[in-house]
Amino acid sequence: MALVRTLTSMGIVLAAIGLVFGGSLPAHADAVLITGASQGHGLAFAEDYAARGWTVIATARDPSKAADLQALAKRFPNIAIEELDITDYAEVDALAAKYKQTPIDVLNLNGAINTFRFGPNRFGKIDYAWLDTILKTNVTAQLYVAEAFLDSVAAGKQKKIVAMSAVGGSIGRVNSAMAPGYRASKAALNMLMRTFGEYAKDRGVAVLVIAPGTVDTQDYMSRKDLSGVPERYRRQIELGVLAPRSAIGAMIDLIDRLGVADIDKFHQWDGQVLPW
Ligand SMILES: NC(=O)c1ccc[n+]([C@@H]2O[C@H](COP(=O)([O-])OP(=O)(O)OC[C@H]3O[C@@H](n4cnc5c(N)ncnc54)[C@H](OP(=O)(O)O)[C@@H]3O)[C@@H](O)[C@H]2O)c1
Repeated sequence: MALVRTLTSMGIVLAAIGLVFGGSLPAHADAVLITGASQGHGLAFAEDYAARGWTVIATARDPSKAADLQALAKRFPNIAIEELDITDYAEVDALAAKYKQTPIDVLNLNGAINTFRFGPNRFGKIDYAWLDTILKTNVTAQLYVAEAFLDSVAAGKQKKIVAMSAVGGSIGRVNSAMAPGYRASKAALNMLMRTFGEYAKDRGVAVLVIAPGTVDTQDYMSRKDLSGVPERYRRQIELGVLAPRSAIGAMIDLIDRLGVADIDKFHQWDGQVLPW
């Protein structure tokens, strides 16, 4: 009887995933939902998960402008693109309702305002409206998405929510006055996800906080001639602080390994534990 129940529920799960992908079942039953997959790390996560055969729900604020993601989805039929602005809570609710019957093994909270150095992110020049926006996007909206998809994640096999933080969010590592708004957003994200982890673990869900580093998603490091490489990346290559393209795969392996027992740690992409 137990076997019949198990086979029936597996059938429902596979049928639901099949519906999402227009009836053609992907090769791998594990599903990941990635926010902010139009470019950068999110696009690279979508590529690497898809190459591993995962079912990838890749979200973008404006899919019609996400040309690289569209091209990736042409290469990998196991990628479904969905529109999602994480600060538009009606849109979050609608997407969570659409995927209510679909188990999501890993929810990758990647999409954020990512700015370390420039603009209104300096004492004396703080733009307070911008500060409100970055705190809403990088903190409040992250929790909103995590709560909206909690049931789908709890129904998955891996049951993991991953918050993309930053080394800059480590209070223990502060050594300059640089980028206070961005850093505050990541420090607040860390606490919000650390405490949400204590709540979600009762559902078997692991809420993990990872600092991805600046990943060399364009694989600049493999070039012999760095003359065409943007200054910011050239400098990071020279300083030896750019994480290699393989860091995305290393993070997927790390996420695979980590579980509820690890929610009290703040990990870097390479598995190193950082001070909160
Ligand atoms: N790169 C780094 O140096 C670095 C270092 C440490 C941590 N991180 C973290 O890693 C994550 C990815 O960074 P990245 O380098 O890939 O940044 P990125 O290239 O600037 O990409 C950010 C992504 O977030 C999306 N996004 C921004 N606001 C959004 C919103 N309201 N709703 C939904 N999506 C939104 C963007 O979408 P649009 O294309 O629509 O703008 C874009 O896809 C971020 O959480 C970032 O803070 C990055």
